[in-house]
Amino acid sequence: MIKKASNWVKFCISKIPKNGKKNIAMDLACGLGRHSIFLSKNGYKVISADLDFAFLKSFHGKNILKVQADLEILLAWPFKNNIFDLVVATNFLNRRIFSNIENSIKKDGYLIYETFAEGQQKFGKPRNKKFLLKKNELLTLTKNLKLIFYEEIKVKSGKTKFVKSRILCKNVR
Ligand SMILES: C[S@@+](CC[C@H](N)C(=O)[O-])C[C@H]1O[C@@H](n2cnc3c(N)ncnc32)[C@H](O)[C@@H]1O
Repeated sequence: MIKKASNWVKFCISKIPKNGKKNIAMDLACGLGRHSIFLSKNGYKVISADLDFAFLKSFHGKNILKVQADLEILLAWPFKNNIFDLVVATNFLNRRIFSNIENSIKKDGYLIYETFAEGQQKFGKPRNKKFLLKKNELLTLTKNLKLIFYEEIKVKSGKTKFVKSRILCKNVR
């Protein structure tokens, strides 16, 4: 699993206006916590959620609260509505949880989402279409939010290539 924060997450954070408050972010399916640590260093209070307790135990940072939960059980979503100023989700896809994610974001809060897209199977894992976004699919999954930035892109990291879809959007409802 990658340890450096993604360039997309860094770019989006640089575009989200700072409002002088201690904003609360959720790092969804946080893995080894690369974005939890990045967000904590950028002044957020962070909720790091993952199924895997060993991953959660592997990292530390200021103002990070860890939640071990299966985020794919729709009716056992562990978060209240309208509590996060920001949700970050990377390299994780379950299409059915988007309404739970949306409901957890406060009005004027943001969603940063980045994961693998069709075409990725030529370069490596994941190859299962269940985990690959189709063209424009991330736009459809986030249609209730206001689009700010979106791209479908081939990213190079060293010798490895990845095909990604990624979005920054805002809850304006
Ligand atoms: C490829 S890793 C991505 C980690 C992190 N978001 C990143 O980009 O570095 C996928 C993560 O999803 C977590 N995960 C898988 N199924 C999950 C579930 N049902 N609920 C919560 N987390 C889950 C895994 O434990 C793993 O940490």
